[in-house]
Amino acid sequence: METTIPTVPTPDDAALWHEGVLYLADQRLLPDRAEFLRLTDAGAVADSIRAMVVRGAPAIGVAAAYGVALAGRDAYAAAGGGWKAAIESDLARLAASRPTAVNLFWAIDRMRRLIARLDERDPFPALVDEALAIHAEDRAANRVIGDLGAALIEARTDIITHCNAGAIATGGYGTALGVIRSAYAAGKVGRVFADETRPWMQGARLTAWELMHDGIPVTLQADGAAASLMAGRSVGWVIVGSDRIAANGDVANKIGTYGLAILAKHHGIKFMVAAPTSTIDLEVASGREIPIEERDPDELLSCGERRLAPAGCVARNPVFDVTPAELVDAIVTERGVVLRPTKEKIRALMGGWGL
Ligand code: MRU
Repeated sequence: METTIPTVPTPDDAALWHEGVLYLADQRLLPDRAEFLRLTDAGAVADSIRAMVVRGAPAIGVAAAYGVALAGRDAYAAAGGGWKAAIESDLARLAASRPTAVNLFWAIDRMRRLIARLDERDPFPALVDEALAIHAEDRAANRVIGDLGAALIEARTDIITHCNAGAIATGGYGTALGVIRSAYAAGKVGRVFADETRPWMQGARLTAWELMHDGIPVTLQADGAAASLMAGRSVGWVIVGSDRIAANGDVANKIGTYGLAILAKHHGIKFMVAAPTSTIDLEVASGREIPIEERDPDELLSCGERRLAPAGCVARNPVFDVTPAELVDAIVTERGVVLRPTKEKIRALMGGWGL
């Protein structure tokens, strides 16, 4: 949003655009320190996405859109009327920052469509307007998703969420946490159980921070604690976000989501995925085609500064998994709700586009 910059970021002001500068709350530091990073070129935006300064699929897309605007300004300064060729290296750098969240590629493609319509004059104002629109539209979409998702929850219940799909992971308000916020406002949420989400601890650091900021009752639990919670008390829904939804309704999300979906099915608990349509990728037929990011094993071998595993220990660190569509009760988007998703229902939601 084009606005003034508060000194301390809040969940709903985690990405701000002000006088040609992108301000991002540094999510690596939260909740201990709430600080903005000031980004003035596309390379810095790409580095921030890769380093998890900004994370969460829609927020990555929003940041990348602003990154394209900065790239356009620099390309025009360097090459004048030849800016369209000069911008390509920055677009490639942004696209290479992380592989799984399709919102990144969706946002770059949307900016590319605008670039194709522009002439040789300075593209910066038009690119900024488009990035601001992507940001505002995502925030608005999340309000709709919140209302539609909350309407699916019949009675006051406890909810499990995994990772962080909140305001800071999006353009604002959140997807899964947007549903939880709207449901809480409607008196439908008893307590939220937030999985801590090893190894980056998005649940412990970010989801707990966001929900506590809003006064929504939240209990943190180890990722492995979900099964016993489901067996022992009245959890009505698991609600998560997504990084990419395939054309058949398979859902890529933070590692551990698939296990939660199996547990939910076993215990008769409903499983909701809340995501904007910019997360739906009709070009991948099923979840098997979704590229799953593998990060540095050191993220798992250590906790903060402390090494946990013995020297020489081998670790694998896939940071997303794929939940098959048959385990999903509802995909909630700003265009509507898809119950028990199938290829045909996803195609109908997207208006047949791309298939
Ligand atoms: O690795 P991250 O923190 O970028 O992963 C984020 C998630 O998996 C979220 O659940 C997903 O992007 C939805 S965010 C609205």
